[in-house]
Amino acid sequence: MERTQVGIVGAGPAGLVLGRLLELEGIESVILEARSRDYVEHRIRAGVLEHDTAELLAEAGVGERMRAEGLVHEGIELRYGGVGHRIDFDALTGRHVVLYGQTEVVKDLIAARLESGAPLVFEAADVALHDVAGEPSISYVADGEERVLRCDVIAGCDGFHGVSRPAVPDLTVWEREYPFGWLGILAEVAPSTEELIYARHERGFALHSMRSPVLSRFYLQCERDADPGDWTDERIWDELRTRLALDLASGPIVEKGVTPMRSFVVEPMQSGRLFLAGDAAHIVPPTGAKGLNLAVADVRVLAAALRDHFATGDDAGLRAYSDTCLRRVWRAEHFSWWMTSMLHRFPDGAGFEEKLQRSQLEYVVGSEAAATTLAENYVGLGTAWAG
Ligand code: FAD
Ligand code: PHB
Repeated sequence: MERTQVGIVGAGPAGLVLGRLLELEGIESVILEARSRDYVEHRIRAGVLEHDTAELLAEAGVGERMRAEGLVHEGIELRYGGVGHRIDFDALTGRHVVLYGQTEVVKDLIAARLESGAPLVFEAADVALHDVAGEPSISYVADGEERVLRCDVIAGCDGFHGVSRPAVPDLTVWEREYPFGWLGILAEVAPSTEELIYARHERGFALHSMRSPVLSRFYLQCERDADPGDWTDERIWDELRTRLALDLASGPIVEKGVTPMRSFVVEPMQSGRLFLAGDAAHIVPPTGAKGLNLAVADVRVLAAALRDHFATGDDAGLRAYSDTCLRRVWRAEHFSWWMTSMLHRFPDGAGFEEKLQRSQLEYVVGSEAAATTLAENYVGLGTAWAG
């Protein structure tokens, strides 16, 4: 039987950032991850860090490579009718975002954890939570051996398909599935734009993003259950050129995958001594680039509450955890739904809805008040808004 203060399930951004923040507070934790190190370090997902997310990583001592290699972006372009319109984050909010892949954030956090010697178990099998209302423990199998980890608190950071959420009784679930997905690709080619381009087109949404001066990331709205195999490289580049209305440089496509779009929230995000964080508790469609940032915001709140709990026995922060996080979560849910609704083609949305989308886009690019709404949500609402 092993013992720790905080048992963390999952070594995605939520679990790894929480482990790091606790370490800085002198609080012990064990991270249990179902997959291998190689798998989690190469799972391509998000790329945009909000201003405060980048600051938090730097303050936590894991921002050195991000500062050197991350790309500071002070705006994005919205494109419709083949014409681009810049939303200037710096002018509207005084803040920016940093383009730095989730893979790189995860690599930096794992390297720091291993260097500090704090426990991180990869390929933990049969992970199961017990007695979360009383004396919590986590059972798992590692190196063919059955183990039990007793903890004061469990942090469920195991993503949408994890085992932690089902351990919370009486959950209320809010969910919306969109009638489309995103085909995402990574290509070894210099970006054809300096800033991200979000494009609305009659054939569907397209996004030009990037990872470095030699790596570009693109997304195309596609069928929800599309088979990436049906998308040849030629078809992808043709479709991107058409929808982005851009003279696009192409290069070898090194990754291709389809993600169905959904909005999902559970309430409450806690039960007894179990606290859910990140995708385990909520999913947003990626149009607002919020998923990773919400995961980090949750664990910042949780780490502060755990600091009070272990230092002074003050549990006010832990009791308020779910309510504090959900205020930010619902703002991000609304923003992500709004961006998605404004920029995608809906199968039965011809006519009236298209007119509304067009009007909304014209308002956002033409009114400073509307552009500021987009900008301040995109760069991230500060801690004054929520926790
Ligand atoms: P995760 O990153 O999912 O980490 C959870 C971890 O828990 C994983 O390592 C998993 O292996 C582990 N785990 C699961 N079950 C168990 C178990 N039983 N025991 C132990 N460990 C377990 N966001 C954007 O902003 N832009 C994007 O382009 C984008 N693309 C995405 C594409 C996909 C396919 C997905 C699924 C998400 C995407 N997101 C994107 C969202 C963003 O990546 C997530 O919000 C972010 O990863 C959340 O971090 P997390 O730590 O909460 O969860
Ligand atoms: C990405 O670069 O992966 C990315 C950027 C912006 C988004 C979603 C994904 O809105």
